[in-house]
Amino acid sequence: MSAPSLEIPLRLSEAMTSPLEPLKRGDPCTAVILGAGGDLTRRKLMPALYHLLHDGLLHDDFSVVGAAREDLTDQGFRDKMKQAILESEEIGHVPDATWDHFAQRIHYVRGDMTDPNFFAAVSARVAEFERESGQSRGRLFYLALPPSVYGTAVELLSSTGLVPRMDDPAQRPWARVIIEKPFGSSLDTARALNQTVLKRLAEHQVYRIDHYLGKETVQNLLVLRFANSIFEPIWNRQHIHHVQITAAETVGVEHRAGYYEQAGVVRDMFQNHLLQLLALTAMEPPVAFRAEEVRDEKVKVLRAIRPITAATIDQFAVRGQYGPGAIDGAAVPGYRQEDRVAPRSTTPTYAALRFLVDNWRWQGVPFYVRSGKRMARRATEIAIQFQRPPHLMFQQDAGRSFAANVLVIRIQPNEGVSLCFEIKIPGVDVRTTSVQMDFGYGNAFGSTDHSAYETLLLDAMVGDGTLYARSDQVEAAWALVDPVVQAWAAEAPRDFPNYVSGSWGPGIADAFIARDGARWREP
Ligand code: NDP
Ligand code: BG6
Repeated sequence: MSAPSLEIPLRLSEAMTSPLEPLKRGDPCTAVILGAGGDLTRRKLMPALYHLLHDGLLHDDFSVVGAAREDLTDQGFRDKMKQAILESEEIGHVPDATWDHFAQRIHYVRGDMTDPNFFAAVSARVAEFERESGQSRGRLFYLALPPSVYGTAVELLSSTGLVPRMDDPAQRPWARVIIEKPFGSSLDTARALNQTVLKRLAEHQVYRIDHYLGKETVQNLLVLRFANSIFEPIWNRQHIHHVQITAAETVGVEHRAGYYEQAGVVRDMFQNHLLQLLALTAMEPPVAFRAEEVRDEKVKVLRAIRPITAATIDQFAVRGQYGPGAIDGAAVPGYRQEDRVAPRSTTPTYAALRFLVDNWRWQGVPFYVRSGKRMARRATEIAIQFQRPPHLMFQQDAGRSFAANVLVIRIQPNEGVSLCFEIKIPGVDVRTTSVQMDFGYGNAFGSTDHSAYETLLLDAMVGDGTLYARSDQVEAAWALVDPVVQAWAAEAPRDFPNYVSGSWGPGIADAFIARDGARWREP
């Protein structure tokens, strides 16, 4: 039974009752999207740029150039992008005046990246805007390309002079490159890609994106931990029994089987998003909310995690694959029946991993991290499960034990924070029950319609890499997940599919966590 919930009547400070002046606005720049014919540009990037402009967060001196292989004019590309923005979940309504303002900043260059003339054409376009601008205009290249060509794209951007190496971060006009995920498919390939990229560019020019870091509640995790004084003293092994991080999705593999069959859930979700969440939860307080300080602390956590090896994998990890079932009452196929999935595929669509962070703060506190497709509900959350009271002086009704306090940070949906604690039930007897005190972003601030990509694009335009991954972080994360991926590849699972679509994952995952005297929360 879930605990009754107490909504906190919220009084916002005066500053919050009137619109806030933005703390940052994009620099003058030209953003070039390589691979602008793709899904990411349509669904995420263009709506995010439009929204930034709508909110007055782009500099007046801004242009975006879409570069792709389709034969389109500037106007043809603008029409496609308008359609994409109208279809976007976050936007819907596009006033004519705002659109016109945005549309005149959108341009298109046609070509294949492997054609030397292509970069010459991009260069000519960028130079034209820079001449017209008359001021120092930055260059932001977004690689919305297949991962197999990230390295080549960086080499060509460098050799054509579009993105010169800049050892001094203060050099102007700046030139930066955003690289999409996946950054490599193993430790070796990630290292090789880092080498290729860093041979040409300085680290501060490279923005390795992880869209989870742009999510409102992920950033709020830092504020919750470090802008309050009540959490830090109990944020350690003396007070915390274990941590559960869940990223459950109801969607299946959708149209991405070509990629997902090779990737599987550990590469797709753990190497990046989930290890980022773990690192933010476990890291020491950085001295400042600045890129290098935050990244240094996160890397330390990743390096402190005890490696999982082929010999220990059964103690540290379980895997699953969804079979047919139902989501919201509608029948859905199993993974092996999905389009372009091998009928005997052994790709895991669910994993639960137990990470141990070998440092003073976290010694002996397991971090259970799980993610799966086609789960019962869409929910991403971090649950901090505190220790039970050391001595129970209250008599309990038969069959009921005290629930431990749990602090839950809901990343999505229904973003917010809740705390579960025990209270006395009114009456002459001293009987206790668990209740939940709840803060919901939606109730407090109304729905937020800005996406993670807006935050991240704006950060790249102002040169703030705090919410992007550094090369050592990416490699440290690969070093942790690679042995899991390899051990599972070496030993085919015998029980796949082992969970029904619409459930909370395979039964073995319950036994896995129960070994440590814990059980999965139902988000
Ligand atoms: P798509 O396959 O939909 O689009 C890729 C784009 O790259 C297309 O426009 C394609 O052109 C273009 N392209 C491919 N090869 C070349 C080439 N040689 N020269 C020029 N253009 C080329 O991919 P997505 O948009 O979905 O994803 C882009 C990247 O973002 C991928 O790396 C993906 O992993 C990552 N990503 C995507 C997410 C999403 O939600 N879509 C989420 C997270 C990451 P053409 O149209 O002519 O084929
Ligand atoms: C992507 C993964 O990085 O993140 C997808 O490739 C996954 O498989 C997605 O569905 C989840 O992102 P979000 O923002 O919907 O939680």
